[in-house]
Amino acid sequence: MSRLIVISNRVPMPEKNGTAPAGGLAVALQAALEERGGVWMGWSGKSSGTKEPEPLALTERGNITYALTDLTKTDVEEYYHGFANRVLWPICHYRLDLAEYARKEMAGYFRVNRFFAHRLAPLLKPDDIIWVHDYHLIPLAAELRQMGVKNRIGFFLHIPWPPADVLFAMPVHEEIMRGLTHYDLVGFQTDHDLENFRGCLVREGFGNAIGEGLYLSHGRTFKGGFYSIGIETAAFAEFARKAAASVMVRKARQSLEGRDLIIGVDRLDYSKGITQRIDAYESFVSRNPAHQGKVSYLQITPKSRSEVPEYEAMQRTVAEQAGRVNGALGTVDWVPIRYINRSIGRPVLAGLYRLAKVGLVTPLRDGMNLVAKEFVAAQDPEDPGVLVLSRFAGAARELKGALLVNPYDIEGTANAIARALTMGREERIQRWQGMMTHLLEHDVKRWCDDFLADLTAEAENPAPAT
Ligand code: UDP
Ligand code: G6P
Repeated sequence: MSRLIVISNRVPMPEKNGTAPAGGLAVALQAALEERGGVWMGWSGKSSGTKEPEPLALTERGNITYALTDLTKTDVEEYYHGFANRVLWPICHYRLDLAEYARKEMAGYFRVNRFFAHRLAPLLKPDDIIWVHDYHLIPLAAELRQMGVKNRIGFFLHIPWPPADVLFAMPVHEEIMRGLTHYDLVGFQTDHDLENFRGCLVREGFGNAIGEGLYLSHGRTFKGGFYSIGIETAAFAEFARKAAASVMVRKARQSLEGRDLIIGVDRLDYSKGITQRIDAYESFVSRNPAHQGKVSYLQITPKSRSEVPEYEAMQRTVAEQAGRVNGALGTVDWVPIRYINRSIGRPVLAGLYRLAKVGLVTPLRDGMNLVAKEFVAAQDPEDPGVLVLSRFAGAARELKGALLVNPYDIEGTANAIARALTMGREERIQRWQGMMTHLLEHDVKRWCDDFLADLTAEAENPAPAT
């Protein structure tokens, strides 16, 4: 079997994590690589200041070799806080209004991709399979190809891909589109993302769909497909079963004093629809006096990308909003919202999901959303909770047993919360079973196997034997 080389910006080193890596990419890749082994290259999360970063630091952990590099302060600012998270992230989440484009940052993004390519190339053996992840590293294949790398290179985008009219508002969309055409396989989360990509390709003549998942761009053929990312379903369900007896979860249950638990778990990110969700919960409580004092909404929201101004501002907004609702609706013996602004380990999260009657997953736009899948996997088969899910999460393409909502429709979401809390056991079991069967079949291992099978299958641009 060929060696697998995974490259992503974010790499969670296992021993660093007293706290869990909050973020779907890290969680899913850890699971996929633990199974198969390989090399995982990426950013250490540290800055070397103004000094040139040291050579790659290699660390073996089980069958994974981590190859990490620091980045200079300027690189972190321009590439990570700048172009990746102030242009590509908002654009891919359909938020033209939040994109802050600066030429200097765009140049920094391409420079860091070149730097990654130069650090990676000396590690490569001729039959290695290279798998690049996410929006931080789109130009990496083009850089590697320029250096003469002939290996098969795949790319998977964990976040949504926007329609042409949104993407083309980005001044360097052409370079980004061309960057993608240097891969052998480009994978998206859902059929909708792939459809948008095809639209972008055709609209400005970057290329064409030529059938059977093949695309042609400037004489080069590459594959495109959608591969919905999964979780370690069976293992997570087992986690949740065991966690129900843990001290933390027992304490949480006691503190509820018989109230129904509603849970939300999201990085602090404007794409997650947290403020709209709190509005919906407030509307639900205000319009349903019978539920007042009988429910408790726990929102777990680890800080994320705090140096990016839009995220820093949101930190205040959400904290104030939760405080305002508690001030307006709370009583001497009832706090409507419990707000935690830090990361919680996944074993404890699993137990909390299982304790909850309702999981609220209402992003305004999300590539997939693993929390939705984890919530389902964690439920007690005899008495499952109900998932309220945004139709704009990639997971909504698969989890048909959820109550689908439009997160912009505050009253509609409030009604869904009421319906979820009063749904009969039989209907809950029926909805849950369908979703759980799907998640067991489509777990993270299958996602990884499907992608790699397509990447390594015989194709139009076979890797030359060297
Ligand atoms: N997560 C965690 N601790 C937290 C919050 C989230 O471990 O306090 C994990 C969560 O269990 C999930 C991932 O972070 O596996 C979030 O992935 P998702 O796809 O839902 O969203 P993303 O953060 O990638 O946008
Ligand atoms: C999303 C992105 C990942 C990213 C994660 C956490 O899941 O798709 O690429 O790692 O968010 O964000 P961060 O900026 O902390 O890596």
